[in-house]
Amino acid sequence: MEMRNDSAAAAGSSEPKRIKVGLVPLFSTWVYQCEEGPRHLNTELEGLAHRLMADDRNGTRRTNHGGWHYAFDAFELQEPVIAQFRKTMEQHVQGYLNHFRPEGRKKKDTFRLRGWINVNRAGDFNLLHSHPGCFLSATYYVKVPEAMKGGEIYFRDPRGPAVAMYETPGIDLPWIGAGVGIPFAPATGYLLIFPSWLEHRVERFEGEGERISIAFNASNP
Ligand SMILES: [Fe+2]
Repeated sequence: MEMRNDSAAAAGSSEPKRIKVGLVPLFSTWVYQCEEGPRHLNTELEGLAHRLMADDRNGTRRTNHGGWHYAFDAFELQEPVIAQFRKTMEQHVQGYLNHFRPEGRKKKDTFRLRGWINVNRAGDFNLLHSHPGCFLSATYYVKVPEAMKGGEIYFRDPRGPAVAMYETPGIDLPWIGAGVGIPFAPATGYLLIFPSWLEHRVERFEGEGERISIAFNASNP
């Protein structure tokens, strides 16, 4: 792009000088969105969640306020549906990684997935957190009731000091938001993958029914 340099004219030139300038977006945050996750596994995954919930020892409390959070690594479960789910999720994670490699440099990486099942009902939410010790984190939505309100996952703007500098009255800058983050409204079959350092929280649900999701992290094996 070009801009007119009026100071050049003021300094004695007959015409304003045109100079080249550029605006470069730095430090983008890449969130992988897929609306066509493995829906054909959803019925079995839901059945598995309910079987696990029947035993009190399987539930725990992490970032969840209310809700049911599987206490162990879901990928350790010796279930055919988990083996299929793992295979699909590994392909998605690999797709995310290879997106950043040029043609001819794409490859197969070695990484480990660890995951857990979440079941949220009305009033349940998850506090702001990130996932240390991993490089990518993800959520797959097994079941999201259409009648449910809320429940969005909010990604917090990772440019820390920017949050404190949101006061630019009357000037709409592209990085200025409400300071609370960017929401994604989940639906059944959606998959989100994002950098593990990206802080996020889950809004409180309202309404009938339950939302079932499987969250997982990718780390070095
Ligand atoms: Fe999380």
